[in-house]
Amino acid sequence: MCQYIPALDLKKQIAHMRKELDAAIKRVIDNTDFILGKEVDYFEGEVRKYCNVKYAIGVSNGSDAIRLSLIALNIKPGEGVICPVFTYYATAGAIATVGAIPVFADIDPDTYNISVSSIEKVIRKKRDFKIKAIIPVHLYGQCADMDSILKIARKYNLKVIEDAAQAFGADYKDSGNLSRKRKAGTIADCGAVSFYPGKNLGAFGDAGIVLTNNKVIAEKINILRNQGNKQRYYHIALGFNNRMDTIQAAVLRVKLKYLDTWNRKRQENVHYFNEQLKDSGIKTPFVPKYTTHIYHQYVLCSKFTNTKIVYFLKSKGIDARIFYPLPLHLQKCFAYLRYKKGDFPEAEKAAKHAIAIPVYPDLTKEEMDYIISSLKEALHG
Ligand SMILES: Cc1ncc(COP(=O)(O)O)c(C=O)c1O
Repeated sequence: MCQYIPALDLKKQIAHMRKELDAAIKRVIDNTDFILGKEVDYFEGEVRKYCNVKYAIGVSNGSDAIRLSLIALNIKPGEGVICPVFTYYATAGAIATVGAIPVFADIDPDTYNISVSSIEKVIRKKRDFKIKAIIPVHLYGQCADMDSILKIARKYNLKVIEDAAQAFGADYKDSGNLSRKRKAGTIADCGAVSFYPGKNLGAFGDAGIVLTNNKVIAEKINILRNQGNKQRYYHIALGFNNRMDTIQAAVLRVKLKYLDTWNRKRQENVHYFNEQLKDSGIKTPFVPKYTTHIYHQYVLCSKFTNTKIVYFLKSKGIDARIFYPLPLHLQKCFAYLRYKKGDFPEAEKAAKHAIAIPVYPDLTKEEMDYIISSLKEALHG
């Protein structure tokens, strides 16, 4: 019997490469270039290569990556930005904290990503402010329907920022040519990535990066992240302290080498789970042909209330989670937007029925079998 299966086992992950990590951190200590040091430059270069993107600007975290992107794209206070109502707080939090107005759209119940028809509905609604941008979120590790989103954006002249916080390493495939792949975060005007420790590529603290192929946006982000400096003590913009720590870059450089192997292992685990859960009545993830899935979260949906299933699994020592129990339109902090219960039925359904079970690369077959039998017991027991 398995004693405890965490949502993610970082201790096991770190143990595999402890010496490399210790050496990387020591290098930074020896160099004492703790902020925007040379490891940050190297990491940005490696990310550019990995993502096949022209610019990668290391920043303090994924939330700031979105916030800086909004500012760099000239989104102004009082302007509307569409985002999915079912995502982590930070997507809409970034919009609201630059003074813009989050405009929520519902999700597609199969992918949990923003629904294209909901975006169109939202755009057509009359309101007393202008909508200027869309932030699709590549939720749980698979890309939103970017071709359709970019088509809408072109039609209505909207900017598009990808929230790729959960999807670093996922591939988006062009609908006209499935063999042409691009990395999540490199498809729209710019993309925001989080390296929060629990992400598939996680730092030892907060870190994030902005990806873009647009030189002007890249230059603006570069200046904004560093107090509006281009040259030290000469401030040409109202910037922030949103720089990346060198120690985080050094750690991320070590881990980046393993990312594709880890993501493949997650996919193998999902393949096994999906097979074993085929006849269990639980809905396993749907992956559209335009994207790969890196399974930051492996999310299942049953007809039962998720809190009950999670409670049962936790009693069995399995750290199942709910991402997310309350959609954003029902969060207290967004009450001023005056949405109400029932406005986004698909998001409300997902919040009640979706559960995430551990899927991290180091899971053993014994652990997976234990999760499967416990889940079946929860569903049918
Ligand atoms: C979808 C989404 N957006 C934004 C963020 C914010 O990233 P960070 O925690 O690095 O600020 C996260 C991180 O958890 C996220 O999952």
